Amino acid sequence: MNSLPANNPDWLVKKIIKMGGTICFYDYMKFVLNDPINGYYGSGKAKLDFRGDFVTSPSLSDDFAFLVGKQIEDWLIQFKSSFLSNQKLAVIEFGAGDGSFMSGLIKYLLGSSNNFLKGVYFVIIEPNKGMVKKQKHKLEELLKLGIDILWKGLEELEENNINGIVIANEVLDVLPVERITFSNGKLFRQGVSIDKKSHKLFFNEMPITSELGKSIELAKSELGITIPPEDVFEGWTTEWHVDNSKWLKAIYGKINNGILLIIDYAKEAKKYYSSKNSDGTIVSYKNQKMMNNVLDSPGNCDLTSHICIETLINDAETLGFNTVGITKQGEALLALGLAERLYGIQKVFKDDLSHALLRREALLRLVDPLCLGDFKWFVFKKFKEKKMNINSTCLR
Ligand SMILES: C[S@@+](CC[C@H](N)C(=O)[O-])C[C@H]1O[C@@H](n2cnc3c(N)ncnc32)[C@H](O)[C@@H]1O
Repeated sequence: MNSLPANNPDWLVKKIIKMGGTICFYDYMKFVLNDPINGYYGSGKAKLDFRGDFVTSPSLSDDFAFLVGKQIEDWLIQFKSSFLSNQKLAVIEFGAGDGSFMSGLIKYLLGSSNNFLKGVYFVIIEPNKGMVKKQKHKLEELLKLGIDILWKGLEELEENNINGIVIANEVLDVLPVERITFSNGKLFRQGVSIDKKSHKLFFNEMPITSELGKSIELAKSELGITIPPEDVFEGWTTEWHVDNSKWLKAIYGKINNGILLIIDYAKEAKKYYSSKNSDGTIVSYKNQKMMNNVLDSPGNCDLTSHICIETLINDAETLGFNTVGITKQGEALLALGLAERLYGIQKVFKDDLSHALLRREALLRLVDPLCLGDFKWFVFKKFKEKKMNINSTCLR
């Protein structure tokens, strides 16, 4: 992964110079994604659909939200018929992008015969103000109908107060990561430096902090993950997800009884941290193109890295979550009725071929094994009533 561009924006140049000329990769990712004025998500310039920089499952069509909606509805029914029957239930979405998922989900529940909406409230937890603006715009009509949708900071939620479902689709992949690199027989923390004359960004090496060192040792002792791998080459680099456990811990504290559904790009540790995966998984997206040079066009594109399956499960279980199951998106959506939906489209739009083809393509992309269909669904639960049994169609 080389560092190239000369046209780095002034705001970033100033920031890095102010911080001494080198920042860690974690800070670089945080600034370019979340800076409130110039960051990709912070400013709200992120464009998440087939006309924008990249697609997410909910941005393709309402199909994804309707299929996940079936699962959410089914979980809510199980909660209502359990010891939670008198509770107002929550559906909480982290990182709601342009609001497509929440909008599709509420539309699905509005059309359901279960008449749930009175007993359910919806919360979006979105730290980026630019994205909140987009979400409010998308959800305007539903807000006018009086649907109970709130925007809150995670810290505003009371401890042990959520009874319901928490969902995060493609959120962990944008949480800032540290990068660890192997050079001259030693591990370093990857830094990003600025050449003061040319204003070019380039990768640099910084000493490993004691916190990073401890977390690498812990991964070895608890999960047998060896960093660097035994047959490592000079320059081997990987991502280290320092925020996942903090994020999980904060959510764990807020849930009283509920399910956490995480959907994201993920890899097994043995592939993630193998010597063959010599440059990690981080890439950027702009205009539907994936780019390997993550120093290019800072603040104007998405940066995303895979999560490590075992590390995420270990972090969740260490906190006290129980793993209900993990599956691939393709399998989950088929179990939830994607094939029937596909068949239904051909019938409903039989006189509107172009519409039918677009919907068909959107549905097929959700299960394409080379893309969204390979996303992993992680279902975790936390219940006071430890024996509370939860059936999950998506895991069948
Ligand atoms: C790749 S987009 C996914 C959007 C949406 N979930 C979807 O699937 O279309 C990532 C979203 O996560 C938000 N985000 C970034 N950091 C976050 C954090 N710490 N907590 C919650 N959301 C965050 C971004 O602002 C953005 O809305």
